[in-house]
Amino acid sequence: MTGLDILESIGSLPASWHANGSLNPAVVEELFKCAQGAHDTAETGCGRSTLALSNASVRHVVFACDVPPGEDPETHSLYQVKKSPLLRAGSCEFVVGSTQQTLPEFVFDREFDLVFLDGPHGYPFPELEYFYFYPHIRPGGWLVIDDIQIPTVANMVDVLKRDAMFRLDHVVRSTAFFRRTDAPTFPPFADGWWEQGYNKRHGVAVRHLGMSAKPRAIAHELLRRLGRR
Ligand SMILES: C[S@@+](CC[C@H](N)C(=O)[O-])C[C@H]1O[C@@H](n2cnc3c(N)ncnc32)[C@H](O)[C@@H]1O
Repeated sequence: MTGLDILESIGSLPASWHANGSLNPAVVEELFKCAQGAHDTAETGCGRSTLALSNASVRHVVFACDVPPGEDPETHSLYQVKKSPLLRAGSCEFVVGSTQQTLPEFVFDREFDLVFLDGPHGYPFPELEYFYFYPHIRPGGWLVIDDIQIPTVANMVDVLKRDAMFRLDHVVRSTAFFRRTDAPTFPPFADGWWEQGYNKRHGVAVRHLGMSAKPRAIAHELLRRLGRR
């Protein structure tokens, strides 16, 4: 099957294929395009995206939750994906469970060419997923975030737009495609909020106080709060 055939077959799946929310065909196509030639990819949640990424990548790891007790499996994304003839099963590893529980336990022994976040969308779960993945996305690799129309997800996108590690490349429908730059990885087990672009933006007014970056940011925050009264 060619890439075009696979995309056409995914596109012709009925809307009712699973009941966990459908990815727009234009986004499936874009994911497939970005993952072409990838060695390692990952996603949270599963569905049409899994069928596409399993066919584009050499090794694809899927973090998705199982059919909840009492739910009809025929309507569940993981069940449908696993039994689909469009899945390239040999390239896929399924890590089943809530990403809130599985990601902290996963051994990140690879660099990803593409990571797609489309699992739980409640705050702060996409942020939590981002925390576990961001140190493992290679420079030039993709970080793709779905459902950026959700206000809390949009906030995360706003932060990332100002982060030196990522550049927003494009948006398809409500999916943001970021590219990892070659900026150093923000140390995941330290601090450094005053170095982050989103926070630095608020430091402009006190830059003239001649302070170093952290005290300047604190001073600015104090001034901002006083100004509010
Ligand atoms: C919007 S759907 C994903 C749609 C999919 N990307 C597609 O192309 O059809 C959300 C997915 O996240 C899964 N999910 C929801 N909460 C989760 C959690 N806490 N941990 C892991 N997966 C979760 C759902 O079972 C579902 O597969």
